[in-house]
Amino acid sequence: MEEQRMERTLRLSDGTEVPRLGQGTWYLGEGLSPRSQERDALRRGVELGMTLIDTAEMYGEGQSEQLVGEAIQGLDRDKLFLVSKVYPFHAGRDQLARSLEASLRRMKTDYLDLYLLHWRGAVPFAETVEAMERQVDRGLIRRWGVSNLDRADMEELLETEPGNRCAVDQVLYHLGSRGVEYDLVGWLARHNMAMMAYCPLAQGGRLRRGLLKNPAVQEAARAHGATPAQVLLNFVLQKENVIAIPKASSCAHVEENAKAMDFSLTPEERRKLDQAFPPPRRPVPLDIV
Ligand SMILES: NC(=O)c1ccc[n+]([C@@H]2O[C@H](COP(=O)([O-])OP(=O)(O)OC[C@H]3O[C@@H](n4cnc5c(N)ncnc54)[C@H](OP(=O)(O)O)[C@@H]3O)[C@@H](O)[C@H]2O)c1
Repeated sequence: MEEQRMERTLRLSDGTEVPRLGQGTWYLGEGLSPRSQERDALRRGVELGMTLIDTAEMYGEGQSEQLVGEAIQGLDRDKLFLVSKVYPFHAGRDQLARSLEASLRRMKTDYLDLYLLHWRGAVPFAETVEAMERQVDRGLIRRWGVSNLDRADMEELLETEPGNRCAVDQVLYHLGSRGVEYDLVGWLARHNMAMMAYCPLAQGGRLRRGLLKNPAVQEAARAHGATPAQVLLNFVLQKENVIAIPKASSCAHVEENAKAMDFSLTPEERRKLDQAFPPPRRPVPLDIV
């Protein structure tokens, strides 16, 4: 049987090509692993094509952004796709600009490729969208998006002007949490917005007991000479419109993750994974961490 080839990149609505496998950074820069090791891991990821790096002002209250700033020093900025996020309570007219400028200082860069509203808060969408667009006009961000918004939220966002410029919705998605497959993945694709899957490794399996040890996962891994973590990444990346941002704090994990698209799950393997972790049959509230 012919293997289905997985596309390594995805085109955003404005035509920009981004890697479908990027790097998360939550808890990096907080001293949990040696700083040089974390920096090296991010740089190794970039070397291996994982040039999309996701961070947020929330992560370690700026410590993750700082580490990203250190890791990208000396790299070709044009080849990177840097993402950060604004706290919902900073997503108002003036505060958003201040948050963004602080993120840029910490990341030692002049612009972000993508700036996300981290989750929905009290600031009306219309105000946030206007503030985002102003940052695009100032050249401080190339585009903006949202995170943790479900389909109903997205419909509401679209009613604002110009809500349809939203490039991405970043949501939790892994084999053990498939609620977004019910209607969000398709809805985003139809509206030319990419879905960015966070926690694609279920936080190293911690979000779903038994996930990495599940027989269907283990069997697929064995068949492809892969690891269970690679199967998990491969699983979410089967959907064309999805970008995954696993976080890894060592070169070894980064190197493993970078190879997650080197194989394709067979229909039989997918059937077994579906059996073990059934796709949703009805609307499911968005999972959030
Ligand atoms: N928008 C949001 O609300 C939101 C929420 C959560 C996360 N995020 C973003 O999404 C990123 C990913 O989510 P996450 O960090 O929560 O979870 P994750 O990427 O699903 O899992 C990270 C965990 O998996 C481990 N790991 C990495 N590669 C591995 C491998 N090859 N084999 C075995 N274990 C491996 C890591 O260990 P080591 O660190 O030891 O390598 C870490 O413990 C975040 O870092 C963040 O950028 C966004």
